[in-house]
Amino acid sequence: MATKTASVAHPLPVASRMTRLGTETAFEVLVRARALEAEGRHIVHLEIGEPDFDTPSNVIEAGVDALRSGWTHYGPAAGLPELRKTIADYVGKTRKVKVAPEEVVVVPGGKPTMFYAIMALVEEGDEVIYPNPGFPIYESMARFVGARAVPVKIREERDFSLDVNELASLITNRTKMIILNSPHNPTGGMMSQRDVQAVADAIGDRNIFVLTDEIYSRLIYEGSHFSMFSLEEMRDRTILLDGFSKTYAMTGWRLGYGVMRSDLAEHVARLAINCTSCTASFTQVAGIEALRGDQSSVNKMKLEFQRRRDYVVERLNKIPGFSCCMPKGAFYVFPNVTGTGWHSKELASALLEDAGVACLSGTAFGEFGEGYIRFSVANSIENITIALDRVEQWARKNGR
Ligand SMILES: Cc1ncc(COP(=O)(O)O)c(C=O)c1O
Repeated sequence: MATKTASVAHPLPVASRMTRLGTETAFEVLVRARALEAEGRHIVHLEIGEPDFDTPSNVIEAGVDALRSGWTHYGPAAGLPELRKTIADYVGKTRKVKVAPEEVVVVPGGKPTMFYAIMALVEEGDEVIYPNPGFPIYESMARFVGARAVPVKIREERDFSLDVNELASLITNRTKMIILNSPHNPTGGMMSQRDVQAVADAIGDRNIFVLTDEIYSRLIYEGSHFSMFSLEEMRDRTILLDGFSKTYAMTGWRLGYGVMRSDLAEHVARLAINCTSCTASFTQVAGIEALRGDQSSVNKMKLEFQRRRDYVVERLNKIPGFSCCMPKGAFYVFPNVTGTGWHSKELASALLEDAGVACLSGTAFGEFGEGYIRFSVANSIENITIALDRVEQWARKNGR
């Protein structure tokens, strides 16, 4: 975008591929909310997906110590050997499989694994099946590389768990990748072990890769997590995406990882060399402490999210035009707002502009998000209460 000071005598010759690249609306809503705040308005932020907690102090100390002791240089592209080993042990334990450090690529956050895995595997004309509503970057990246993005609808009537039969019916001989996300953003829905197995059975022997986004796997309130990565028959065709942003409140440190067969890991590391060279070394040292050190803060944060989730769902179900089912994981609620008579996008915008509550339209997560909005519960119960009072007042006045 041209700034006021830049000369714009020449048209910008944007590459045509840029027209296929999407975005993550949360960041745009944040900018609008901040602009309203600059005008003196009070806004409650329920739009962005990041824990409101501080990074655990043992992790901060490890990061600061690392800076002081010289972890300020380039490191290996695929990550520090000690962190790769720590992640291999952690994934091995949590997913009950054997993982070698060579199968781990450390990257700056959860997103790069999406980017790199799709870049490395998906050809123009291939098909990528992804959840819709779902994290917007799946569709964005699939389209960016010239693939056909094939949505599988995540339905409220199934408690927002993916319909495996529907997914199976979308598989064709052009399908290259299936993206799964459990617990699921934005709905909080989860996949059972039976469903994960059923997806594997539907894939069978075909050379289709599964990108399993498990960034919320430690934030589960009901049921337990089961990973495609745990299935021996899918092990060579599964890429596990996980990271530190949500579990350890480390969004700004930029630290995540992908786990995959070692020959694919080499390609992904080469993409990293071309893009970032490596992930910040001191951040990685802090990551070792996060995985190996005291885990009590993770549990504390989870219990607090659960308390807020229960409160928000109960209150939303009393607001005219809103109905909200109980999310099983992650830290969002995804109420059905069709009863208000408003379209999702105009409703989210009205709540921000008129009521001072920043949230996201369900359509920020794809076309099948129409009829819903997403609130994050990553804010204090006091702020959430203010937000819900405002939403309730607004809905009583403006329901159609
Ligand atoms: C489902 C999902 N995957 C990946 C990410 C990206 O995480 P990171 O901020 O670590 O890149 C997010 C962030 O909101 C997410 O919701």
